[in-house]
Amino acid sequence: MYSATCEAPVNMALVKYWGKRNEELILPINDSISMTLDANEMSAKTTVAASESFKQNRMWLNGEVVPFEDNARLMRCLEGVQRLALANGGLKFPLSWKLHIASYNNFPTAAGLASSAAGYACLVYTLARLYEIPMNEQLTTIARQGSGSACRSLHGGFVQWHRGIADDGSDSIAEQLVTAEHWPNMHMLILVVNDARKKTGSTKGMQSAVETSTLIQHRATTIVPQRIKELRTAIQARDFKTFAELTMRDSNQLHAIALDTYPPCVYMNEVSHAIVNFVHDYNESVGEVKAAYTFDAGPNGCLYVLAENVAPLLAAIQVAFPNDAQQSVEYLKGIPVPPVEL
Ligand code: PMV
Repeated sequence: MYSATCEAPVNMALVKYWGKRNEELILPINDSISMTLDANEMSAKTTVAASESFKQNRMWLNGEVVPFEDNARLMRCLEGVQRLALANGGLKFPLSWKLHIASYNNFPTAAGLASSAAGYACLVYTLARLYEIPMNEQLTTIARQGSGSACRSLHGGFVQWHRGIADDGSDSIAEQLVTAEHWPNMHMLILVVNDARKKTGSTKGMQSAVETSTLIQHRATTIVPQRIKELRTAIQARDFKTFAELTMRDSNQLHAIALDTYPPCVYMNEVSHAIVNFVHDYNESVGEVKAAYTFDAGPNGCLYVLAENVAPLLAAIQVAFPNDAQQSVEYLKGIPVPPVEL
């Protein structure tokens, strides 16, 4: 028997991916940029074992059996990595050996906390280790076919997923812009508003947006390309003010598109909106932009803040959200690392 165990972190988008131009290959209509978190804080951990004695491919997620062979996305990831393994040659066991895969998330699954990103990134990375394939950009094109945002979790630091132009998706890859060390005092807080599974998953939400939103194409063709340029410059210059404004505007635009979808998709709730108001009020009261928020396809808020401003921000959060928030505010270090083999 051969096995590998790896851990891959969650990433949080700053300029969001929302909308596909090819559902099967998961090709996005726009580029996106994210920051990868510290794997100790929010990550998926996956073990893959291959054995001659296994009768079928099997998978467990958080201890529960999940269908494997009839899950097209899982199979595409497995076949993609196996194709690369064949091309690399020198296999230490036959590709026909079946696999047992066990994966755990150390945070709520499918609650708008990017669990599928960490999960598929970890699956692809662990399979690559098992088949002895070194990290390369093709792995990001495979992880992308599990869950789009997963391709960004194969790198640490700040990462851009290029939409690409090729019909076969070969240039729709994730590229590391800078490593974590470039901006080591960038931190993130997660405000867990609700950790239940979301009502409309991102696949369905973005499909419906592409079909019905009258704003989404304008966002993809005009707004995002400019925003990507500006955010890249802000990250390079460690310009927190510009970084924060672009991030907050893009989160707001994602949810505006969700509301412009027909019927509308509502991901944020009253507490989420209270968090948005809190951040704007906080920045105004301190006379400087010291915090930024972003929300994915769920109600939970992510706040970006520099290390030196974490303590006063946390104190202000505890005053603004005195009861439930004290337990639900989870402080996460934003020191991002790439996936690692354990
Ligand atoms: O990769 P998916 O299908 O889980 O979609 C992710 C979509 C957002 O999280 C809302 C945005 C993003 O770029 O991660």
